[in-house]
Amino acid sequence: MFDDKLLAALNDQMTFEFYSGYIYKAMAAYCRPLDLDGFANWLEIQALEEMTHGERFYLYINDSGGRVHLGAIAEPKADYSSPLEAFETALHHEQIVTGRINKLVDTALAQSDHASRIFLDWFVTEQIEEEANVGSVVAKLHLIGDDMPALFLLDQDLAARAFNPPPPGTLGVTGG
Ligand SMILES: [Fe+2]
Ligand SMILES: [Fe+2]
Repeated sequence: MFDDKLLAALNDQMTFEFYSGYIYKAMAAYCRPLDLDGFANWLEIQALEEMTHGERFYLYINDSGGRVHLGAIAEPKADYSSPLEAFETALHHEQIVTGRINKLVDTALAQSDHASRIFLDWFVTEQIEEEANVGSVVAKLHLIGDDMPALFLLDQDLAARAFNPPPPGTLGVTGG
């Protein structure tokens, strides 16, 4: 069973992960009409990944005897001035997520909730990858500048990203 403060924070982060998926989906919807199908593909897969992050929290809260509370999700930004602006926004968002995860770890440690700390370890590591992946696209877009042929080459690169769903039974701590 969780302490109330930690349970509220876990529910908040679950909602925030689903919200992250919503943000990435809106970014994909911005790229589709521009025929940047590779960018859209990358962002759609990122949206799916965020749903699995929310699912991890959902299962963990349930498995630990807590009550899931799905919070309100704000409307995501629909338009960007460029793919660079979208990915810079994504990078900033991931930095916010990293800060939130670190604060959650602090809360778990303050409660001596070691199970939650171990659960959160996965997200601590995941955020290093998230920031690196988004940061790499931002860096490439800076290199590309106004070079359209280079932008289309990057678009082809991003088209290759595939969604690898976590194997069944691996998201929850008790095999759920
Ligand atoms: Fe996430
Ligand atoms: Fe993320």
